[in-house]
Amino acid sequence: MCSIIGYKGNEHASSILIEGLKKMEYRGYDSVGIATIKSGKLLTRKGVGKVAEVNKSLGLDELPGNLGIGHTRWATHGGIVDSNAHPHLACDSTIAVVHNGIVENYDELKDELTRSGHVFKSETDSEVIAHLLEEYFEITQDIRLSMIFTCKRLTGSFAFVAIFNSSTMCGARYDEPLIVGVGNDDYFLSSDILGFLNYTDRAIFLDNRDIVIIDDSDISFFDFNGDRISRRITQVAWELGDADKGKYAHHTLKEIHEQQNTIVKSMKQNKKTLERFCDIMTRAKNIYITGSGTSYHSALLAKQIFSKSKIHVETIMSSEFQYSSDLLDENSILLAISQSGETADVIQSVKSAKAMGAKILSIVNIPTSSLARLSDSYLEVNCGPEIGVAATKSFTSQLALLYYVTDIIGRKSNGISTSKDMLVRAISEVLELDSKIERIANQIKGSRDVYILGRSLHFPVCLEGALKIKELSYIHAEGMAAGELKHGPLALIDNGSIVIVIHPNDSTYVDTLSNIHTIKSRGAKIVGISNKKNSIYDYQITIPTISEFLYPLIEIIPLQLLAYYLAIGNNANPDYPRNLAKSVTVK
Ligand code: F6R
Repeated sequence: MCSIIGYKGNEHASSILIEGLKKMEYRGYDSVGIATIKSGKLLTRKGVGKVAEVNKSLGLDELPGNLGIGHTRWATHGGIVDSNAHPHLACDSTIAVVHNGIVENYDELKDELTRSGHVFKSETDSEVIAHLLEEYFEITQDIRLSMIFTCKRLTGSFAFVAIFNSSTMCGARYDEPLIVGVGNDDYFLSSDILGFLNYTDRAIFLDNRDIVIIDDSDISFFDFNGDRISRRITQVAWELGDADKGKYAHHTLKEIHEQQNTIVKSMKQNKKTLERFCDIMTRAKNIYITGSGTSYHSALLAKQIFSKSKIHVETIMSSEFQYSSDLLDENSILLAISQSGETADVIQSVKSAKAMGAKILSIVNIPTSSLARLSDSYLEVNCGPEIGVAATKSFTSQLALLYYVTDIIGRKSNGISTSKDMLVRAISEVLELDSKIERIANQIKGSRDVYILGRSLHFPVCLEGALKIKELSYIHAEGMAAGELKHGPLALIDNGSIVIVIHPNDSTYVDTLSNIHTIKSRGAKIVGISNKKNSIYDYQITIPTISEFLYPLIEIIPLQLLAYYLAIGNNANPDYPRNLAKSVTVK
């Protein structure tokens, strides 16, 4: 949701903080702020807008000092106004705090702190942390104890970083990520390794209930009980920092165009890890798959992919999991799919499944994520950082990996494993349609509603395509099973409607064609995504012919491109859709 960063070392902190925040802006971006300490004095600047804009107008990176914290906010509690931007200060301006997550008991804490004389300047839940630290520091005169007492009072989820004017930087985490970057003479605290990867590839991934304190002489780790703990340094891959747009106008477009490589990468798995993962799956009596948004669409496809190998699975949307979770027991496995591995709904589902004795498998893009750590076994999709807020390459990578796992479990010799070269060729052919799809987008960009129809394996792709169009272009879009049209939605179709049909020449072709006739006779314009020419389409996006089972991997790409160009046509920024954030760590 939000991103937090802290720096303590010998360099000019504020420019390092701004650089780190720009790399993490994908996490949330309605306001930004930083605080530094110079000669024992706390200095702060913050405002509404994107990092580059606010930096330009307020000169955030001009604040002096070698110690500082920064934050980009994705509003949850309190409107998008300067006063709600982080950092938040304690009353006497000796402590500043940046926070990611939700302090669920903030109302009660705020009342209590107000009664003891603290004055609040924002409507945020986060500000209570600064005042609690101040309250406990006044009593104990000890930073470590203040951190411990404060963490114990907070309920909900949090990662926060605090700086004290005595030149100390502290951090704590519970259910939100916080990573320490270890440089030669300096330290970073960040929500994502992208925040410091330009400076160091040595990272310490804090666990839940960890507190880290960095002062002039030492770095030390404690748990919430105050017991000293030790944490290991991990060397992270530099290429994870490759978050440039390259020759593309937007990260989203770059990521769409990476898919011919990323789907192959997702099938490069360590043999032992893959065997263990598949072994757990084959032993389970009941298999459930969960995920949110795009990852849930992968789960829906996984159900169909597995069923072709006679493996029965049920899918449960992560945000609905708590209402049907009593289905699981110790003979069950829950396979959680998540690009970020930090989505609150997914993590919550996994925790309740674990509590019921189920085994946890996961498919993630970030191996150091909370989800990977909670899992009995996990596979990485290896698609590299996905910066665009909308999931694109991570979706096809999840799918390719799910196909691959099905091949292994179902002992198939004619699945995706033997079709890699053909798939890469097919994807690059689809990507070459980029400018044709841009032209179609320009023809339909004024539409108010778009419907996407398909049957069988194509149906979850319709849902995913509609999600992409909604979030990127702000046009209302709905994915539907083509056969359901006559059961109600047909009433919406008239001569202003745009209907996209996923219509390859496979076992669904004839039935879907008759749906197209029905729509066409009501005056709708048809965009056909098909490998077979048909004059019934007003616009045709011709995809190559591949094995029937694998079509979802290529037919989503024209929809991603269409959504991208619809966004451009409607003056929306496809990398940063309004109101959305890449990593949704609130319920
Ligand atoms: C849509 C999108 C979201 C995510 C969802 C789950 O383009 O990106 O719907 O798929 O928030 O995120 P992860 O996969 O990180 O759990």
